[in-house]
Amino acid sequence: MRYLDGVSRRRFLAQAGLGLLPAQAFTTAALTANAFAAEAALKDHAARKGIVYGAAILGSSLRDDSFRSAVLRECGAIVPEFEMKWGVNEPSRGKTNYKISDAIVSFASDNGLRLRGHTAVWYVNMPAWAKAALAQPGGMDLVYGRARDVVGRYAGKVYEWDVVNEEIEPRDKLPGGRRNSPFYQAAGPGFIAECFRIAHEADPAALLFYNDYGLEYWTDYEDARRRATLELLASLKAANAPIHGFGMQCHMKVGNRFNEKIFRRFLADVASLGLRISLTEFDIDDMRLTADIPERDRLVAEDAQRFLDVALDERAVKTVMTWGLSHRYFWLSRERPRADKLPTRGLPLDADMARTPMWHAMARAFDNAPAR
Ligand code: XIL
Repeated sequence: MRYLDGVSRRRFLAQAGLGLLPAQAFTTAALTANAFAAEAALKDHAARKGIVYGAAILGSSLRDDSFRSAVLRECGAIVPEFEMKWGVNEPSRGKTNYKISDAIVSFASDNGLRLRGHTAVWYVNMPAWAKAALAQPGGMDLVYGRARDVVGRYAGKVYEWDVVNEEIEPRDKLPGGRRNSPFYQAAGPGFIAECFRIAHEADPAALLFYNDYGLEYWTDYEDARRRATLELLASLKAANAPIHGFGMQCHMKVGNRFNEKIFRRFLADVASLGLRISLTEFDIDDMRLTADIPERDRLVAEDAQRFLDVALDERAVKTVMTWGLSHRYFWLSRERPRADKLPTRGLPLDADMARTPMWHAMARAFDNAPAR
């Protein structure tokens, strides 16, 4: 469908959203679409296509009323940003502390939000005691026990679980591009399948995911990561491990090279294994861009749309989570700040909870996506 001479619908909506078209360019159809865009939240744009949209949150940020209302307005799902990690839940051996993750779980169920569990087994953010204990004989039982504990505690309340996080690292030169993690060192390659079996037993209703990063861009390194990830996913299926989905983190960076064809192929390959796909930690790093805010926002929005238009074309993608919702609480600004220390602008809401051009780009990408 053509809206204006030589302007495709996708481009028309893109330009309309960025305010680049003259007022007389709006047709009735476009005005209706625009009215929907003004009222509807990101979760509604997503839901119209059968996609769940949500965000990672810090439990402490829910004390902030304006942030909490923004979460309730925009999100159909949440995921705890760090409250469900092992180091938080079991700071000393055998002394579990689920207080802060319980609070997030209650917030989700009180407000009808879906919950992603993140993450049962991750080599980062392990308690210090576990690192030492893992090297001892039988050390892996601690890891399996941890998975059983956290997944079992929230059984029936989590719709997607990141059971195992970040176990691919081709630079470690192990077979299959596996990471030389403390788990691999203690148990060899089969521990991932075992974690899935334990998680499934602990919560038969949850959809279980393997989650990883560095799979989106066109570099030799990410090519190697994609190959290794596919090999791992295929081997888990072949071993009959109860895995239901693949979580692609999607930490993006403006200026990185993206190859649409290669990326589409990767998504199709994952889908052909019979797995669903969730974009689990979408955000955009603008550290290569100058301080100018309108310019940064424009380029971030362009990147978001270019990427999501391709990703959402794949019908196996059913969940999209941003890693944070507002620039007021953004891990990149805290942990990987720009050289000029200005807040990073790679989330859908700014620090005042106003919608950013990235929000509009995401809404348009959901609107453009095929229904699933
Ligand atoms: C990050 C959190 O955002 C930070 O607050 C925490 O200090 C470290 O972890 N990949 C993941 C997430 O799977 O768990 C990470 O979250 C970001 C990278």
